[in-house]
Amino acid sequence: MNAPIKPSDLMPQTVEFKLNDQSVKAYEGETILKAAQRHGVEIPHLCYKDGLRADGNCRACVVEIKGERTLAPSCCRTATAGLEVLVSDRAVKSQKMVVEMLLSDMPDNGYKWNDDHSASPHAGEHGELSEWAHRLDVQVRPELKALRREQPACDVSHPAMAVNLDACIQCNRCVRACREEQVNDVIGYAHRGAYSQIVFDLNDDMGHSSCVACGECVQACPTGALMPKTQIGSQVVDKKVDSVCPFCGVGCLLTYNVKDNKIVSVDGRDGPANHNRLCVKGRFGFDYIHNPQRLTLPLIRKPGVPKDPESIDQLNRDAAHWSEVFREATWEEALALASGKLKQLRDTHGKKALAGFGSAKGSNEEAYLFQKLVRTGFGSNNVDHCTRLCHASSVAALLEGVGSGAVSNQVNDVEHAGLIFVIGSNPTTNHPVAATWMKNAAKRGAKIVLADPRVTDIGNHA
Ligand code: SF4
Ligand code: SF4
Ligand code: FES
Repeated sequence: MNAPIKPSDLMPQTVEFKLNDQSVKAYEGETILKAAQRHGVEIPHLCYKDGLRADGNCRACVVEIKGERTLAPSCCRTATAGLEVLVSDRAVKSQKMVVEMLLSDMPDNGYKWNDDHSASPHAGEHGELSEWAHRLDVQVRPELKALRREQPACDVSHPAMAVNLDACIQCNRCVRACREEQVNDVIGYAHRGAYSQIVFDLNDDMGHSSCVACGECVQACPTGALMPKTQIGSQVVDKKVDSVCPFCGVGCLLTYNVKDNKIVSVDGRDGPANHNRLCVKGRFGFDYIHNPQRLTLPLIRKPGVPKDPESIDQLNRDAAHWSEVFREATWEEALALASGKLKQLRDTHGKKALAGFGSAKGSNEEAYLFQKLVRTGFGSNNVDHCTRLCHASSVAALLEGVGSGAVSNQVNDVEHAGLIFVIGSNPTTNHPVAATWMKNAAKRGAKIVLADPRVTDIGNHA
C-alpha cells in the first residue's frame, strides 16, 4: 500500500497572496478564481466550469494584478505567493463590458431562465449569462443590440436535445465536455471570427451526427444554447430528488428534476464514480417511468390461454392487447396465487425442486430478504444471484489477486492506472461513464489492452 508516512503529507501546501488588499491563502496550484470563491469573493465567469479544464476564452473573470499592465483571467491564473490581486473598478468595468457584449448577441427570447428572477427588470432568459448580468447590473445599450449578429437557425433533429446556437456565447464548455471529459469528439469549433460556431462532426445536424447522447454538453452549457428538449424554458421545478442511476452498476449519482410529479430532466451529481458525469441511459432514460404501458397492478393469466412464447411475443410486438392474455388482479390475489403454486411444487416434488435467482438490480436489503424467502419459505439453500453468471470469472480472479471477490476501488481510479486490461467487456456501451475514465487515462498516456473477439469502441483508444 502507498500510505502516506506523515499526516503532513496529506495536507495541501498553501501560498499567501493579497486579494483586494487582504492577505489570504490559496492551495498550491489553485487559481485566483477558486481561491477568491473560497474567501467569499465571487468573480464572474462563463467559460469556466468546475470539472472542465480552464480555457480562458471569455474574459468575464478578469482581475487586476499589481505590477502587470494587462488584466488577467482569474480562471486560469494560478495564485502565487506575494501576488497582489484586485477586483478593481477597471477589472469590473471590463467584466461588465464582456457580459454586455455577449448579452447583446442573445435572442430576445431565451431558452433557460429562472422565474425567481423574472420580477427583476435586469433578469434575462439566458441562464448563467443573465445571472451575471443581473449581479453586475449590466443592461445592453440599444446601439450594441442593433449590431446583433445574424441568428443561426435552431436544430431540433436530435430526439433528446435542442440546439439553439443563437444563444451560444462560444464559451467552448460543450466542446471540452464532449472532447475532454466524455472523449466522444463529436463537438468541434469551426469557422472564423464572427462566423465561429460549434459544430457536430462535419457541421451535421446533431441528430444525424455521431453524438452518443451522453448529454454532457447540455449540462455544461451556461446559456441554454444546448438544452434537454424537456427542460427548455423556466428552470423552476417543484422538487429535486437526489438518487442513484437505476441502470448499471457504475452507480452514478444524479438528481431528478420533478415538476407536476413527473421527471422533467436529470442532472449528474458529484459522486465517487461519476463526478457529475452521466451517460445517455442515466440522463435521458426516464420516460419509462411515466409510460402508460407500465405495470401498476399484478396481472394473472386468463384461464385457457396457453403459456407459449408466441403469445408473449405478440404482446411485445403490440400485435395483441395484454387483456387477451391476462386479467388485472389485486396484490393479495396475485401473491396468494404465486405462493400457493410455489408451496404446491415444494410439497409435491420436495424442497430441492425449487430455486431462487436474485437480481443484481436489487438492493442489499432486497437480496437479504430474497435469500430469506428461499431458505425459510422454500426450505432449501438453492439460492443464487445473477452475478454468479456474469462475474464468475472476475470473482475468481479478484479472490486470487486481491483476496476479495468484490471490487476494491471506485471505477474512476483507472484514471491513475498505467495499464488497463479490458477482457470481454464493452464499457462504452455497457458502463459508459466508467469508459470515460478509461478514455481519459488513455489520453494522458495510459495503455489500454483489449482482449475481446470483437474490436469494441474502447478499441479505438487501446
Ligand atoms: S453551445 Fe453552450 S456550451 Fe457550447 S459554446 Fe455555446 S454557449 Fe458554450
Ligand atoms: S454509466 Fe450510465 S447507466 Fe451506468 S450508472 Fe452511470 S449514468 Fe447510469
Ligand atoms: S471564465 Fe475566465 S476567461 Fe472565461
